[in-house]
Amino acid sequence: MIWFLLTDPVPAFLHIKEKIYAKIQSAKGGLMSIYKKFAAGITVLLLFLACSREGANGDIITITYSHSVDPTGATAALIKAFEKKHPHIKVKFLEKPSDTGMQHDFYVTAFNGKSDEIDVLDIDVIWPPEFSQAGYLLPLNRFIAKDDFDISIYNQGALDAAAFRGKIWAIPKFIDAGLLFYRKDIVKKPPRSWDELIKMGRKYQQRPDIKYGYLMQAKQYEGLVCNAVEFVASYGGGFINGKGEIIIDSKESIKGLQKLVEIATSDIVPANINNFTEVESHTAYIQGQAVFIRNWPYQYALANNKRQSKIAGKTGVAPLPAGDAGSAAALGGWLCAINKYSRHPLAAWEFLQFVTGMQGQKISALKSSSPPTIPALFKDKDILQANPFFAEKGLQHGLSAAVARPKAANYQEISDIIQIHLSKAISGEETAAEAVDKMARQMKKAMRR
Ligand code: GLC
Repeated sequence: MIWFLLTDPVPAFLHIKEKIYAKIQSAKGGLMSIYKKFAAGITVLLLFLACSREGANGDIITITYSHSVDPTGATAALIKAFEKKHPHIKVKFLEKPSDTGMQHDFYVTAFNGKSDEIDVLDIDVIWPPEFSQAGYLLPLNRFIAKDDFDISIYNQGALDAAAFRGKIWAIPKFIDAGLLFYRKDIVKKPPRSWDELIKMGRKYQQRPDIKYGYLMQAKQYEGLVCNAVEFVASYGGGFINGKGEIIIDSKESIKGLQKLVEIATSDIVPANINNFTEVESHTAYIQGQAVFIRNWPYQYALANNKRQSKIAGKTGVAPLPAGDAGSAAALGGWLCAINKYSRHPLAAWEFLQFVTGMQGQKISALKSSSPPTIPALFKDKDILQANPFFAEKGLQHGLSAAVARPKAANYQEISDIIQIHLSKAISGEETAAEAVDKMARQMKKAMRR
């Protein structure tokens, strides 16, 4: 009977099923005594009876979807399209700060307090190990089985990020990779190396309409780690390898870090670049102040959004400049997950399926140039027309070769260590070699814990 209710999402019964499902979820959590199971069974029955009137009336369920401030309008479009298809579910958008670290801290506080305020949330590709271990998310395996949800259509790398200890905790929404965006009305050929970038930045900065040669993210936060991953990898270095070994302490990594510091303290970036996250840098870029910017793919849609950008139609896309070992992009991206304490897990699952499915990812790709996690969508004509750079080998290669950050349940601790010493290197408190040495020691300790 219960399974019948769970497998047939008739809108009028969603309320009843939500409550039964929530009960089952909390009941299956441990070695429940027979008494508890019996009590839970009675509760389910009571809930069923109590809710049947409400469900039969076909009440509208409201769920809350939380993710970062969206300057592209993609979220509003996603919600509108979903609500049209599912008139019995309304979605409220809860905006979080764009800084991923701030979002992380908000969720940790909320979920530690067992908050049910949020039903569905976007999670950064670096969070699944921590969030799943901490018990914040609902494992999706049962939903996937229940609906024969085809996960084979997803990019394997993106799916790997969603899995931890044999369970799937989220479905990939889009992939990110660091790219160089440039003013194609000013620059004929984008720079191939970091040194060339410095030279070209300086040259174009002489123009009266250009204030900055280059924009990056150098504030002490996760985005700085991504910028550093790119510099370090472009010189052949790395932070942690696939086996979890700390490899930052190398000549190559020091060289990469020195180049980051050289650029972040140069005259081609704003003097207060150590306050710049994605928001500050994309805002200056779309106001036409800079000739080059390192950012994630959403920059393209935003730069071409006539309502917000002063430079619509003027942006080219290229791989980031190379160091001694070539060009490297940091791998980023977001996945969609369900709060374990959601009171509407079935409605949440409906929404999650939509956002991460073909139609949802198409909306995101059109509105925010977010690269899909469903490879088939890279052949979609509308998507390619809106994002011609998706067809370029550079982007495909960039996405498949992008450098991942370590997959660790204590990633946040590791990232904090990296952030602190990167900042000290930029402010001149530590040399690149000292910063690398300190990072290596502290990261080794953190990995042992
Ligand atoms: C982007 C990436 C994410 C990364 C963040 C850093 O949102 O998708 O993975 O952690 O930027 O600022």
